[in-house]
Amino acid sequence: MLVAIDGPVGAGKSTVARAVAARLGFTYLDTGAMYRCVALAAIQDEAADRKRTLDELRIDFEGDRVLLGSSDSTDAIRTPEVSQRASVVATDPAVREHLVERQRGLTQRGDWVAEGRDIGTVVRPDAELKIYLTASDEERAGRRAAQTGRSVEEELADLRERDERDRTREASPLRRADDAVEVDTTGVPFAEVVERIARLAEETRAKAVDA
Ligand code: DC
Repeated sequence: MLVAIDGPVGAGKSTVARAVAARLGFTYLDTGAMYRCVALAAIQDEAADRKRTLDELRIDFEGDRVLLGSSDSTDAIRTPEVSQRASVVATDPAVREHLVERQRGLTQRGDWVAEGRDIGTVVRPDAELKIYLTASDEERAGRRAAQTGRSVEEELADLRERDERDRTREASPLRRADDAVEVDTTGVPFAEVVERIARLAEETRAKAVDA
């Protein structure tokens, strides 16, 4: 079974998806981390004056750690520079096609909670449950500022820029799938959001077993 969680920057996708996966005993897939790895590789390649092809990039998950090649890049992919670059590489159809293929392959077997921008619309439109997670701009910027230590204003400007790029790009722009359940997390404690999605997943699973 697949639970697809899509939504804009800072809606709480990672925290919520990770917790829903733990609660259900499913495997968590952070597809944004894959775009971030491609961005980090591009930055590293520029510094080293070389060019790796997409096929040469090995991206692996080991528990909570993200590996690019043999290097643990869990923290390196979270810098503001990589965030901005990730939203740029994510507009490249060749990058998207490549990563979408990998994401489809990964989630084909077993039980997954996959989180990103296009899981329910492009990667796996057949997902049994689709969630579109949102929150107000101010709340999203506040959450990010608490994580990064930057000001709310800086985060607000940054996320609006990234949202705009994610929503207006030609290749699989961020949008809510018609059959997704919209969950607004503004002012709602994470535990409540997690509980609601986990219940929806359990109900979906029970219906599938009955059918
Ligand atoms: O969720 P995130 O901030 O880690 O994602 C990093 C960037 O990758 C973000 O700008 C949008 C892009 N992305 C995407 O286009 N499609 C996905 N499925 C996941 C992320």
